[in-house]
Amino acid sequence: MDNETKIRWLVRKDLKKVLEIDSEAYDPPWTENEFVEIMKKQKNCIGRVAVKSEEIVGFIIYLMHRDRIEIIKLAVAEESKGQGIGTSIIDLIKENLLRSKRKNELMTFVQDDNLDAQLFLSEQGFVAVDVLRDFYDDGDSAYLMSYRTEKENIPLPRESLGRENRIAMFL
Ligand SMILES: CC(C)(COP(=O)(O)OP(=O)(O)OC[C@H]1O[C@@H](n2cnc3c(N)ncnc32)[C@H](O)[C@@H]1OP(=O)(O)O)[C@@H](O)C(=O)NCCC(=O)NCCS
Repeated sequence: MDNETKIRWLVRKDLKKVLEIDSEAYDPPWTENEFVEIMKKQKNCIGRVAVKSEEIVGFIIYLMHRDRIEIIKLAVAEESKGQGIGTSIIDLIKENLLRSKRKNELMTFVQDDNLDAQLFLSEQGFVAVDVLRDFYDDGDSAYLMSYRTEKENIPLPRESLGRENRIAMFL
């Protein structure tokens, strides 16, 4: 956990930097309009940014459904990766989950070839629960990755598994 990183609500003036980080992380990235549309039209859509030394170093866009939270996008600036920023963002969303009476799941769809994200989410306690073929416009598949707060669904500790085994759990 990086103590210097603060996470706050995403506001319009943050979009320039958010677009920059998004274009490093996603292909194709969203346009400014796409960010504005989803945040304006979907009342359950929330954006947050991670800030370090007054610079935006990461962001998350998520939807609050009745029974779960769905991560739409999560990205950390290239030069700030590997410093625990992604983990700090996920920890904050997990706190939201624990405070909620109804919601017990944090989930997201990850492109099947995005091994970095799969390993990151695995470290955060997510498990791959489904494979969706032809999920993306280009025909790529997605893994549905899920983190649940119920005790019985918490996955086995990953520390005891080697890297190869952790990867094999997704295949
Ligand atoms: C995935 C992403 C958000 C991780 O953010 P981050 O701030 O670099 O992650 P953290 O530093 O908190 O990493 C926590 C742990 O996750 C794992 N992890 C993170 N990135 C990893 C990678 N590229 N390969 C393997 N494991 C990785 C590691 O175990 C790491 O702990 P360690 O640094 O002690 O080894 C970031 O790499 C990113 O923006 N990727 C591009 C966008 C993307 O794919 N988004 C989908 C996210 S669901």
